[in-house]
Amino acid sequence: MTVADALVLFGATGDLAKRKLFPALYQMERRGELALPVVGVARSEWSDEDFRTHAAEAVTTSVANADPEIVEGLCKRLDLIQGDYGDVATWESLRDTLADHGAKLPVFYMAIPPEMFPAVAEALKSVGLHKRGRIVVEKPFGRDHASAVALNKTLHSIFSEDRIFRIDHYLGKESVEDLLVFRFSNMLLEPVWNRHYVRRVQITMSEQIGVEGRGSFYDSVGAIRDVFQNHLMQIIAFLAMEPPVGPEANLLRDEAAKVFASMKPLDPKALVRGQYVGYRDEDGVDPESTVETFAAARLEIDSWRWAGVPWYVRVGKALAKTSTEAVIELHQPPRMLFDEAGGPPPGRNEIRLRLGDHDGVTFALQAKTPGPNLDSQEIDVDVDFAAALGERQEAYERLLGDAIVGSLRRFARQDVVERTWEIVQPALDEPGPIHPYFRASWGPTEADHVLIDCDAWLIPD
Ligand code: BG6
Repeated sequence: MTVADALVLFGATGDLAKRKLFPALYQMERRGELALPVVGVARSEWSDEDFRTHAAEAVTTSVANADPEIVEGLCKRLDLIQGDYGDVATWESLRDTLADHGAKLPVFYMAIPPEMFPAVAEALKSVGLHKRGRIVVEKPFGRDHASAVALNKTLHSIFSEDRIFRIDHYLGKESVEDLLVFRFSNMLLEPVWNRHYVRRVQITMSEQIGVEGRGSFYDSVGAIRDVFQNHLMQIIAFLAMEPPVGPEANLLRDEAAKVFASMKPLDPKALVRGQYVGYRDEDGVDPESTVETFAAARLEIDSWRWAGVPWYVRVGKALAKTSTEAVIELHQPPRMLFDEAGGPPPGRNEIRLRLGDHDGVTFALQAKTPGPNLDSQEIDVDVDFAAALGERQEAYERLLGDAIVGSLRRFARQDVVERTWEIVQPALDEPGPIHPYFRASWGPTEADHVLIDCDAWLIPD
């Protein structure tokens, strides 16, 4: 691996750069980990100074008590190349600017709409900038299986796979990565982490916000393309995979690929799509849109470890709570020994992994009820990781840092991306009806139809 010596941001004046990339660059600057020029490329008619002011505002809006000296240090690294992406002068100017910085190994970050990726990759090639650089692309990688294959083909005609960094920011989340450490560093868990002990798995990725401000983008994708095919699938891979042989990128991605190879493509009968009431009135949304803002599905992983265990998965916007959670429910003990008071049988053990805000884990265990009888009742053993472990890094800080040093571990590989599209493809081909639900609910009641061995979805913590 070789450390990059320049970072080029396409779409530098856009929303992603503002919300995620500048705050991440600030944190890297603060830790002394940013030692390269950052060259923005954008169509906006801004001067370098406008660009620096914009970046400084983006940082101070997102980062509480940002240190002005560090903000200034970051701004000094910034240049803007203003121009049309279709104009050869823009690319010549980028090439010359990188040459002025003496940059030999730039990282090209595509914070631009995916339909522009091929043209930008071609333009980089036209001025010879593709030869040594790395390219970072944001999801969605394609719109379906066929377009993902086509996009990969175009990118591969210019960049080799080891220089393509496909961002799925869930792979950059400490809480998601912790699933691996949690599973494979605790001997306690591995013996029960299989079909013999696990009755079912439920995963919820719920957001309270609707599509605020992103209506036009969202209406062209929907929940399945936006988060299900990527973020959700990566969580499943970490929960379901076999122990990787080691931490290297391809060893981890090989195990994820095996999970998806054993996962059956989505059965449209085991999928319910919903749309929140009011979505069609959002700016940029088609008033007759049938795009889903909610999806609930039952998945099966037909592997030696997981055959027969239902994986219930829910994602959605405008729901009752913002939460990302995976709950592993174990089987009931074979006999109720401790029930002298004749109460309800003890609940099952659950391992609740919180992956969003307040990430951590809760074990639902049974313990003796105080009093003369031998009865059992549920107690929760709960850990909040931030309280126990201290400051966590934001996903984008880690991903930008990885792209700069050239580590592919937290990026999605081509075969995995294409296979996950294959898995959701039946839902794209045969989407079925769309069921309305109210904001701040848990989605349409029809979502219960995908459950086969229980009556209701678990409510996240
Ligand atoms: C993005 C989706 O990839 O992930 C958004 O495009 C979604 O629609 C976001 O809100 C959720 O990310 P996080 O990190 O807030 O859970």
